[in-house]
Amino acid sequence: MEKLYNIDLLNEILGNAKALPALQWLSDHTWFRPVFSTSFGQEDQVISDLVFRKELDVPVFTLDTGRLFQETYEVFDLTRKKYGKNIEVYYPRQESVEKLVTSKGPHSFYDSIENRKECCGIRKLEPLTRALKPYNIWITGLRAGQSPNRQALRRFQYDPKFDIIKFNPLLYWSLDQVEEYLKNHHVPQNKLHQHGFVSIGCAPCTRAIQPGEDIRAGRWWWETSKKECGLHSE
Ligand code: ADX
Ligand code: SF4
Repeated sequence: MEKLYNIDLLNEILGNAKALPALQWLSDHTWFRPVFSTSFGQEDQVISDLVFRKELDVPVFTLDTGRLFQETYEVFDLTRKKYGKNIEVYYPRQESVEKLVTSKGPHSFYDSIENRKECCGIRKLEPLTRALKPYNIWITGLRAGQSPNRQALRRFQYDPKFDIIKFNPLLYWSLDQVEEYLKNHHVPQNKLHQHGFVSIGCAPCTRAIQPGEDIRAGRWWWETSKKECGLHSE
């Protein structure tokens, strides 16, 4: 059932506010129970910097699928040390991973879309469902410029899959703006960005992109259909 908030009202109040005042407003109105999920991507690092540096009352969590790049763990470590803050980690259910890899091997996701969705379901969606449960507003680093589907998003948007309101504070930022912010504020970044990786997920399912290629071309590159794992339906 759709949560009782008026999304149009939230968009009216905060739809055009800059990222920081909007996050601050949510932090001040604790009744909204916001939470931020980070994959340590560039957009997420901007939001983490705002939340941690400004001491906002917004918990931060990450989903460790067990298949992340070493470089992602390095930026995780640098981030918690720079700001002196904990980032809550959610892992997949042990029995589900054991069953999956025992029955289908460590690379089942390359065999079919169904297998890939099964792996994303176990390693991302189930832990995300658990992580979001106590909260009412899910803050993400989604940007309209990341894909044609994401262009249709609003800053506040109801997500029926997780029965939560998503807030996308950087929705209208360009990649240049994100990079400039990170540079100006000396925010730690994933080293893979220097090697042609833009959108970074699990190691076996992410590759670098060539100049001119779509930002998300390196995600599940062997698939031709819509490249989403189910975290976001956009
Ligand atoms: S995905 O659907 O393709 O995996 P993408 O990598 O674009 O998503 O990230 C979009 C947003 O989803 C991020 O800004 C972050 O808020 C959230 N997100 C993605 N992956 C994770 C993760 N492993 N842990 C926590 N949040 C994540
Ligand atoms: Fe599994 Fe790949 Fe999905 Fe990660 S992105 S959960 S490894 S299928």
